[in-house]
Amino acid sequence: MKTIDLRSDTITVPDEGMRKAMYDAEVGDDVYGEDVTVNELQDLASSLTGKQASLFISSGSMGNLIPQFIIPERGSEVIAHRDSHIFHYELSSMAAVAGLMPRPVDGKDGKLTLESVKNAMRPEIYYMPKTGLIEIENTHNAAGGTFYTTEELKALHGFSLSIDVPIHMDGARVFNASATSGVSVKDIASCCETITFCLSKGLGAPAGSMLCGTAEFIAEAKRVRKMFGGGMRQIGILAAAGIYALKNNVSKLEADHIHARMIADAIRKSEILTLVNENISTNIVYFTAAEGCSLKTAAEKFHENGILISGDSSVFRIVTHLDVSQEDIERVCRFIENLKIY
Ligand SMILES: Cc1ncc(COP(=O)(O)O)c(C=O)c1O
Repeated sequence: MKTIDLRSDTITVPDEGMRKAMYDAEVGDDVYGEDVTVNELQDLASSLTGKQASLFISSGSMGNLIPQFIIPERGSEVIAHRDSHIFHYELSSMAAVAGLMPRPVDGKDGKLTLESVKNAMRPEIYYMPKTGLIEIENTHNAAGGTFYTTEELKALHGFSLSIDVPIHMDGARVFNASATSGVSVKDIASCCETITFCLSKGLGAPAGSMLCGTAEFIAEAKRVRKMFGGGMRQIGILAAAGIYALKNNVSKLEADHIHARMIADAIRKSEILTLVNENISTNIVYFTAAEGCSLKTAAEKFHENGILISGDSSVFRIVTHLDVSQEDIERVCRFIENLKIY
């Protein structure tokens, strides 16, 4: 029985075309700025996001930490939704490395609202912390892949400009946001000063993220990347996978979204499982077991049937991605609809 791995969209492996692009890549020493493939990827990221410059970095976490390190004054606050990846899954790096204070706020579906941000503003009293950065996660992982509408982004950006606090977008999955909304990544990114996006999630590259912003910011980001030990040499091999991903895999994201909705429909039909995020707009589905039904047993049943899911003692997560086919998804749906564990 084939194992269907739905734990995350990070588990994809490079396909033949991507491996060939990696094999053929022209490389050089990127610390000297001499890797032409890295330079090509950085130019491509700048044109896709509409930003002046871009930097190839190791991960989404680094893409969030570098702006946190550069932009706000030490001791200032970072406003973000309380369920943000930066607060829960990045080892408190904003405090440990960047000297910043988390300012978690509420918001609907993992999204900041104008009201939530306005309410988090401190009075200008000298002994109170300043707001140094507003962070937007788009799509939002813990809320089930929700995305910001253009109106929501514009409202937040208008306000941030009026108070002179930059917005950083954790766009680890911003191409999913773009695919589902029909709004270009460039238009989405026009509502933030800096943006990071991942090549190694839904886009299917083996490693790497991009950080994009003004030329001045990226010049400093390059210094900080080196300071964090992230200056690498002949990484055109990885950059080639990123270029391949951006050129070939963006158009495949919508299939992941359709697959996630198929799984959500199967969960709706199940007497055992209950959806947590009712609206499935991208590729993440959270669900739980109905009352009286053991979550542990439900998880075991998935695993016994060759379906890997992630989750803790209260909630499960399924993330659809490039390496699962329509046929795989149909098998998962049949399994969910027929699941009996009482
Ligand atoms: C929304 C979001 N931001 C950032 C990251 C961090 O990415 P990485 O694992 O590449 O550090 C993730 C990883 O899952 C994520 O989901």
